[in-house]
Amino acid sequence: MTTGAFWQEQVVYQIYPRSFKDSNGDGIGDLQGIISKLDYLHELGIGIVWLSPVYQSPNDDNGYDISNYQAIMDEFGTMADWEALLQGLHDRGIKLIMDLVVNHSSDEHAWFQESKKSKDNPYRDYYIWRPGKPDGTEPNNWLSFFGGSAWQYDEATEEYYLHLFSRKQPDLNWENPKLRQEVYDMMNFWMEKGIDGFRMDVINCISKADGLPSAGTDRYSWGGEFFICGPRLEQYLQEMNEQVLSRYDAMSVGEMPDVTPERAARYTNPDNHEVNMVFQFETMGIDSGEGGKWNVKPWKLSDLKAVTSKWQYALNGKGWNSLYLNNHDQPRMVSRFGNDTEYRKVSAKMLATFLHTLQGTPYIYQGEEIGMTNVKFDSIEQYQDIETLNFYREAVEEQGGSPAQAMASIYAKGRDNARTPMQWDTSEQAGFTTGEPWLRVNPNYHSINVAESLQDEDSIFYYYQKLIQLRKEHPIMVYGAYDIRAEDHDQIYAYTRTLGDERWLIVLNFSDQVAHVDLQEGASVSELIIANYDDVTVEPQAKMDLRPYEARVYKLK
Ligand code: NOJ
Repeated sequence: MTTGAFWQEQVVYQIYPRSFKDSNGDGIGDLQGIISKLDYLHELGIGIVWLSPVYQSPNDDNGYDISNYQAIMDEFGTMADWEALLQGLHDRGIKLIMDLVVNHSSDEHAWFQESKKSKDNPYRDYYIWRPGKPDGTEPNNWLSFFGGSAWQYDEATEEYYLHLFSRKQPDLNWENPKLRQEVYDMMNFWMEKGIDGFRMDVINCISKADGLPSAGTDRYSWGGEFFICGPRLEQYLQEMNEQVLSRYDAMSVGEMPDVTPERAARYTNPDNHEVNMVFQFETMGIDSGEGGKWNVKPWKLSDLKAVTSKWQYALNGKGWNSLYLNNHDQPRMVSRFGNDTEYRKVSAKMLATFLHTLQGTPYIYQGEEIGMTNVKFDSIEQYQDIETLNFYREAVEEQGGSPAQAMASIYAKGRDNARTPMQWDTSEQAGFTTGEPWLRVNPNYHSINVAESLQDEDSIFYYYQKLIQLRKEHPIMVYGAYDIRAEDHDQIYAYTRTLGDERWLIVLNFSDQVAHVDLQEGASVSELIIANYDDVTVEPQAKMDLRPYEARVYKLK
């Protein structure tokens, strides 16, 4: 196992540029906007920024559909702005990792424009084209992540192309060595500009099974078994590592839907030269029923414990975990796993304590550090996200489902929950823009905003700052081995961390009721490291009562 790498010891902050800060009043966040907030990030204490895509894009999926990998999106600014951002970060000792979206490009990318022209175009094989079945239907029955068939018919050459996401996101053909070389060259272009690594979008989908077989016999079906962690994934990751990452002190985190801990332990084992860590999705699945994310079911603490323990044990001493509870694709964590009304502040701090006291690298998503919450817009017209709009159309217009039920799913799981503009202050539009924001601001910005957080000594922001600082002072927070305690308790999540002869005990109340727990380790507490209520005593005691969403981190004798 690696130790001492910056990507292990620093905390990552994710910026979704469209929603972070607008500098020119067009309602869209931009690079100069980010630059104006660098001191804020520095004050928080994070050491790495992950920037969601800022490349040229027609924005079918807000930048995850790239039409030029080496140019900056006009709405976000210029290459000079981007260079100033990198410089501003580096001046403050903050690293920058860029989003790498190479499972697919935009259909407006020059490669695809060429590719669709003719079957013998030199770029044809950069994408995955197939003739239809003899009856004219799609080459196989795979569904897209965004609903509907994963194939689109193109009149010009009378073939279908594969798109695991929207029709405007054709999948790149990783079987083609020329395409792979283009990707590595592009990565090296950014590395040479001085970035510090990549977050790799759905990178475990790049290798599709030979023959692209249909999944089962249904007309349409989830084909994941044929493209999730496919046959040549590790070969491609190793090649990418060899061609790019290994040549620099670069960080890599692979987004990997449906990855198992066994596989992740292999992909992140430094001996295998693939990636440093992966984003797993099991935690994000604990409140989904049959059929996926929109079928919302209440999550159980026992499931959160089971999934977390599985990952903590599986990667300990082998690979490395990434730790997150929300991002631009997920609802806000305080609304989902905490309490966004009466106990918003204290539950946000409890969840932060959880994330920062597990083994791995914590990721903070913009606004998390001030406890931003989910949003409920009145009508579907106020939503912007392609996945959300597709879901609504399918559920209500095509399948005749109830609009109220669809909206309830969107309120719980829609991606726009995370994408409402960052709440900076109480001025109009939350200080995000002087114009009309591309997506409405959450009306609760009057009470939840950065200005308020910076004024309140007891704010969520300062609690994050303290956790980040503690992590720099105590290697046990980064590297300590995790061991669960009181496993069957249905309100309390308790665990120890151990590094050498140092041991810590973490006790978290995940409920809105007082919780009683009996923990043998409690008898040997020697110091309180951090807590989210301010009058916690440090008497050694096996029996403890924790108030709603209380979090305590103790050092043990
Ligand atoms: C995962 C990204 O995080 C998400 O926002 C995007 O829609 C898909 N990959 C497709 O790129």
